[in-house]
Amino acid sequence: MNINDIKTVAMIGAGDMGHGIAEVALLAGYKVNLYDIKDEFVDKGKKRIFESLDLLAGKGKIPPELNTAIREQLLTTTTDLAKAVGNADLVIEAIPEIMDLKKKVFAEIDQLAPAHTLLASNTSTMSISEIATATNRPDKVFGLHYFNPAVLMRLVEVIRADKTSDETMQIGMDFAAREKKVGVLVKKDRPGFIANRVNQAPAVLVSEILERGEVEPEALDAFVRMMGSAMGPCELTDYVGIDVAVNVSRYFEQTLGPDYGPPPHLLKMMEDGNLGKKTGKGYFEWPNGERPKIDFSKATRKFNFLWTIFVQINEATKLIEEGVVDTLDEVDLAMVNSSGMPFGPIYFGRQISKLDLIDNLEMLAERYDKPMFKPTKRVLGGGHKF
Ligand SMILES: NC(=O)c1ccc[n+]([C@@H]2O[C@H](COP(=O)([O-])OP(=O)(O)OC[C@H]3O[C@@H](n4cnc5c(N)ncnc54)[C@H](O)[C@@H]3O)[C@@H](O)[C@H]2O)c1
Repeated sequence: MNINDIKTVAMIGAGDMGHGIAEVALLAGYKVNLYDIKDEFVDKGKKRIFESLDLLAGKGKIPPELNTAIREQLLTTTTDLAKAVGNADLVIEAIPEIMDLKKKVFAEIDQLAPAHTLLASNTSTMSISEIATATNRPDKVFGLHYFNPAVLMRLVEVIRADKTSDETMQIGMDFAAREKKVGVLVKKDRPGFIANRVNQAPAVLVSEILERGEVEPEALDAFVRMMGSAMGPCELTDYVGIDVAVNVSRYFEQTLGPDYGPPPHLLKMMEDGNLGKKTGKGYFEWPNGERPKIDFSKATRKFNFLWTIFVQINEATKLIEEGVVDTLDEVDLAMVNSSGMPFGPIYFGRQISKLDLIDNLEMLAERYDKPMFKPTKRVLGGGHKF
């Protein structure tokens, strides 16, 4: 089997990610069966796809014929799982991040889909190897990890689980390319794969700095916004949800160690029911869901932005040591295409003195009592390069 055998995609889950991933496949000319558990959910997903298509068509970014073809021929919606996967060559799952639910749905799909059909999960954190155990075709199960919003973000991590075949991985990479995405091969389904794992290191550092009151949330966000970022880290956490941030930290804590766990101030916010935008209060107030107004005159001078890059570089080198990627250039490819940054942390790291990097990492590990920031063997060894 090869990429030319993929003609119909079944999208399982029509939520935030599912509708976007479906749209990306439609834009690449694939037939898509969009499935969810209730009519109202598939209808909402379809509506969101159509709204996005209109926006793209209005800007002249897609030909009118494609817009019509998607609406009239390429997209079908259903709440019948057998119908959704019965003629699918590739199934992509984007349902809630609950392992038992994912395994149950994969077991059902395994029974209903043709024998040749590949099964992909868009999970951000769950073990794809474990999901694959629910099926009788673990060689055909892999990860296709898109980033939000899927239509705009270029990165797709193509993740190999314990038993995924080379053929499945090749089709996964080719599928990403057909969608005009940047596919990055993830050789092992380690926690957070590439981009989320590397980004967790600065998230831990920033949480620790806030926890100690070294900078205030508004001062930090003002500083980061003045560097050109659309949103500061505290506003982003509020926007995503304090509960989501806590769950992500808990997951990394359980899988990678205690250093990655949530800081007390985040747990307290969760306990108090201040979950960010959705409850009207988190780090900031969100009156009627409106973005907080940041006073740029409060921008801190105490925060060293380079530290966040140093800890990203260190975390990236762990991915080599753990066999997730072959080269650090692949990490940069993932980082650039999952962010608005013009270059990745590795590119930056190669421009600076390695001794500076080592000294700063050692200082951060001690100052914040986080062994995870200690320079890895890869950072320490190999002369002036890493
Ligand atoms: N939101 C993000 O930024 C993001 C980014 C990358 C990956 N992910 C991953 O994508 C997956 C989905 O996340 P989301 O943000 O789209 O969630 P969401 O809550 O917006 O959507 C989930 C959808 O799945 C549906 N669903 C629930 N049970 C189902 C079932 N048994 N069968 C079919 N559909 C079912 C829900 O009705 C809902 O429409 C998760 O695994 C998440 O980790 C999310």
